[in-house]
Amino acid sequence: MTFENFRMRNGSGPAYQEVTSAVQDFETRGKLGVFIFGETGNGKSHITAAGGNELIAKGHAVIFITEKDLFKRLEATRNFNNKESFGEIMGACLEADLLIWDDFMSSQKLSADEKDWIFQITNGRERANKPIWMTSNITPEEFESGEIAFRLDDKARTWWRIIGNMNCALNLATNLRKIKAMARALGISVEEYEKRLQGE
Ligand SMILES: Nc1ncnc2c1ncn2[C@@H]1O[C@H](COP(=O)(O)OP(=O)(O)O)[C@@H](O)[C@H]1O
Ligand SMILES: [Mg+2]
Repeated sequence: MTFENFRMRNGSGPAYQEVTSAVQDFETRGKLGVFIFGETGNGKSHITAAGGNELIAKGHAVIFITEKDLFKRLEATRNFNNKESFGEIMGACLEADLLIWDDFMSSQKLSADEKDWIFQITNGRERANKPIWMTSNITPEEFESGEIAFRLDDKARTWWRIIGNMNCALNLATNLRKIKAMARALGISVEEYEKRLQGE
């Protein structure tokens, strides 16, 4: 996933601009991260991975991991014969120049351990002045209501600390997976289907 194969679509401007400027100013932004939220399938993982790949090409250490995978791997370290240790995974998440946390808050209910891991990683990286880029499927309504903030702790502190370290961009582009499936079903091109949606 690169910037080259990312197509500018209606609504994708803010996320694209935020990620490209975060790449450009990476050396000077310190802990200032990126929070891209919006509907599923609208390019959030693609655009952040594209930015991560650019930084890897420039010699930075970048980790891209989905929340589910991260939690599963940390959980698996409880088995004594697990191939990676808790310290190795946590260390990598804290030491990478950039951590891309894909699908933040995708877990419906967080266990006490998961809440603690989120705190350890976000707090540790903040102290080290290192950024996190997050993608999330939360809706603008969920974002505004603040309800989601209380899933992390009962004072909503963790959430607002995370968000306080990030530039947020709402990706309003539509679900490209759905568009592709619909275009295929109708036997027309994606461009043609998008034109029809826009009533052209
Ligand atoms: N603007 C875009 N240009 C090119 N491909 C895109 C674009 N947006 C999404 N895609 C592709 O559509 C699929 C879903 O996008 P993805 O980034 O995984 O969505 P999200 O993370 O928002 O759920 C991926 O295969 C991705 O490469
Ligand atoms: Mg995604």
